[in-house]
Amino acid sequence: MALSTKIPARSVPLSGEPSGPLTGRIRPPGDKSISHRAFILGLLTVGRTDIEGLLEGADVLHTGEACRALGAKITRHGEGRWSVYGMGIGALLAPRATLDFGNAGTGTRLMMGVVGGHGIAARFDGDASLRKRPMRRVLDPLAAMGAEVLEENAGCCPILLKGTPEPLPIEYTTPVASAQIKSAVLLAGLNSPGRTVLVEPQASRDHTEKMLAYFGATIASEPFGSHGRRIALEGRPELRPSRIVVPADPSSAAFAIVAALIVPGSDIVVEGMMMNPLRVGLLHCLREMGGRIEVLDERTEGGERVADLRVRHSPLAGIDVPADHAASMIDEYPILAVAAAFAKGATRMRSLGELRVKESDRLAAIAAGLGAAGVATSVEGDDLIVEGRGGDVPGGGFAETRLDHRIAMSFLVLGLAASRMMTIDDAGTIATSFPTFAGEMTRLGARFS
Ligand code: S3P
Repeated sequence: MALSTKIPARSVPLSGEPSGPLTGRIRPPGDKSISHRAFILGLLTVGRTDIEGLLEGADVLHTGEACRALGAKITRHGEGRWSVYGMGIGALLAPRATLDFGNAGTGTRLMMGVVGGHGIAARFDGDASLRKRPMRRVLDPLAAMGAEVLEENAGCCPILLKGTPEPLPIEYTTPVASAQIKSAVLLAGLNSPGRTVLVEPQASRDHTEKMLAYFGATIASEPFGSHGRRIALEGRPELRPSRIVVPADPSSAAFAIVAALIVPGSDIVVEGMMMNPLRVGLLHCLREMGGRIEVLDERTEGGERVADLRVRHSPLAGIDVPADHAASMIDEYPILAVAAAFAKGATRMRSLGELRVKESDRLAAIAAGLGAAGVATSVEGDDLIVEGRGGDVPGGGFAETRLDHRIAMSFLVLGLAASRMMTIDDAGTIATSFPTFAGEMTRLGARFS
């Protein structure tokens, strides 16, 4: 069965309606970043990698298809339970058809690293959103390692990339805080005969490093400057077949957490959320805004800290979110902006330039959607300012999702607590990261129509 047969049709309008208190427990789906990497590391390991709790969202399934095209045997055993029989580093097959990544920037950029470090060529493509996303940021370091771009569309997909069977060991400093650039370079470096060094002036999520170490690679990470890291990877390791348990995705949990904070009377528990410090910037902001979020039962599962969170409706106050928070909550700004709309006073979020090159131009999409909901915003340079309205957000508008799952979920959540419902043009896009969103939120008491 093709993995992508699970991907539902697109262009489904949906409204989030004013709802009564949200109550009960929710287990968000598996982390998207770890799920992509689980398939990819499985491909690069000889033998059987078992995965539990995989996110069965369209983005990850596209990465799985790409791993199959490069030679992996991938089998689904049940809900979230998968196994990958990998080819091993240096032994990948050249794909016979274009690798279609749909909406998935992470899958595309990480697999460009894999292909770039192997003596094979592959064509990368995806949907209209993916075709607008800048790929030079990974192609440049891959070219320095010896890969060649044979075809491109001004630095965007479709891109035909020819990798090198002997990637040069390079030292590379990332120009923007990006786990995707870092991971592409490290994945290419896996097949290098020497040591690849990656310097990031601002630390980004560290799942690739942690998972490579867990699979037996020699990889060391040390602090660099006040906020950065220097990572050194020895090439050509023998990766060991391993078992991966995927924790719940904090970027998906974010929608339930903010919904509970803004819908009066709510009191929910979010189960098993990953608490990796490079992923929980949103929690710090929401608490600073006055959000009542209690961490219950913090524990280690599958090598990551996880916890259950009790979240209760709370009056929120506007805050200033400094630039150095961005990397630890880069995907959470749309839903933080919704929380800010319900806060008393203005919230200023600084240095959000990277938001312009996500699944959509998120700065523009947030400002347009909040405007349609009756909330004033302004953009000053790369800063976004939301003029919070306390508990009184009119809603009653229409938000364009622009093929962006996080914009879709953010404005549905806004509708749950606004005076009138909020409608989005396309709920189909939510399947990229949180296919069970509407069902799970409905169980808590959310109303959609
Ligand atoms: C991701 C990294 C982030 C994030 C994306 C997932 C990853 O992108 O926005 O959703 O899994 O490495 P950047 O690292 O490019 O900021």
